[in-house]
Amino acid sequence: MPDGPDPLEIAADAAREWLEGLADRPVRPAAGARAMLDAFATPLPEVGEDPAEVVRDLAARAEPGLMANGSGRFLGWVIGAALPAAVAADWLVSAWDQNCAMSEPFPATTMIEQVAAGWILEVLDLPRGASVGFVTGGQMANVTCLAAARNHVLAVHGWDVEAHGLQGAPRVNVIVGAERHDSIDGALRAIGLGAATAAVVPADAAGRVDADAFAAAAAAVEGPTIACVQVGNVNGGAVDPAGRIAATVRRDDLWLHVDGAFGLWARAARSTRPLVAGLERADSWATDAHKWLNTPYDCGVAVCAHPEAHRRAMGVRAAYLPAGDDAVLRDPIDYNPELSRRARAVPVYAALRTLGRAGVAELVERCCAMAALAASRLAEGGAEVLHQELNQAVVRFRDPRGVDDDAHTRSVLATVQEEGTCYPSGTVWRGVAGIRLSVTSYRAGSEDMERAAAAMLAAHGALG
Ligand SMILES: Cc1ncc(COP(=O)(O)O)c(C=O)c1O
Repeated sequence: MPDGPDPLEIAADAAREWLEGLADRPVRPAAGARAMLDAFATPLPEVGEDPAEVVRDLAARAEPGLMANGSGRFLGWVIGAALPAAVAADWLVSAWDQNCAMSEPFPATTMIEQVAAGWILEVLDLPRGASVGFVTGGQMANVTCLAAARNHVLAVHGWDVEAHGLQGAPRVNVIVGAERHDSIDGALRAIGLGAATAAVVPADAAGRVDADAFAAAAAAVEGPTIACVQVGNVNGGAVDPAGRIAATVRRDDLWLHVDGAFGLWARAARSTRPLVAGLERADSWATDAHKWLNTPYDCGVAVCAHPEAHRRAMGVRAAYLPAGDDAVLRDPIDYNPELSRRARAVPVYAALRTLGRAGVAELVERCCAMAALAASRLAEGGAEVLHQELNQAVVRFRDPRGVDDDAHTRSVLATVQEEGTCYPSGTVWRGVAGIRLSVTSYRAGSEDMERAAAAMLAAHGALG
């Protein structure tokens, strides 16, 4: 190793500079993907370069192409910021470089993860005996839970998926809502059930299914059945009546899964809890830490009320791997689709410890209040609020010339993104162009919302 500056210090300085600049820089990246490719596409070096210089150069070249999604005025998709303790804990994860698969050789990170798993169950008030897998995100949490679901409902009918796969298995009925997130379709494809085989329960204008229609769809099918509801529509935040559905669709061979990538966190706060009450009766829940808990990417969470099914679907055992046969000291390998992986729940532990229950509740309630504030400022300025629920809002602007509202809304979005004060993202909502606002950052405050709304209204006015 050459003597010289410490790459870790250079990385820490660059990281600090980036984080300190978040409040003032334009939210959008200054450079696009083509410029970034040009910046990095140098020939593979024949001989190794100085580590400190590599890190310094990497940070300098990347900076123009970074999105300031940690800003309180980043409103795109559903992307949380990263709490300082969670970022710092993530640095430790990389420095420790533990393989967070097995508890016997890697006791520290696996046990931190075990504690974080218990805290997740507490803060979301899910059954304390449920099993938890820390996966890459909501998509993989859905895959993990639905794989356990498939194995469980087929096992009720005497079919062993672990041994025989789906070749010759009884048909598995799938029921989903019309406004499900696309990752449910991705999960159904991944577990061999096919996205197009699902019965689709219609959603109302807000994007939520009707509990009676969902129960009727469940009653209409016999045999192994997987039913998926959603808390937190990715556009407007709508919450399916999951608690009512969970109370009515129960039977041994029906597994009810809740996709709550961000909406499940509504269970952590008093004012939002009634919306998501009763869904602890479901069989599995998918959520993200990298969204509303504000941990850095990546961390999704797959929770199953049937640990045995979870383990059977995911566990890997081999002669060369230390056997995890201790019922108390959990082996992550049993609950994850990955074998080797980073200790991604360490930032979850740090986030939950620095926030506490009260801090998580405050974060959830503030984000909801901020989304409502932004939506009301936009409405006062003439925007049409298509839907606002939880921390989400969908708005649209009427073309002042009366020509094309969709084209005008898209132009407002493009103008405001380019101007850089804030960064909402676009969607199509009930067939019309919309602008989505998601307030998921722990940094978001009322001044951010006032500035973001003013920037959007200014773009609308300038395009009139
Ligand atoms: C409801 C819902 N489910 C699943 C996902 C996928 O989550 P991830 O992007 O973490 O894989 C999202 C993403 O926004 C979502 O909103």
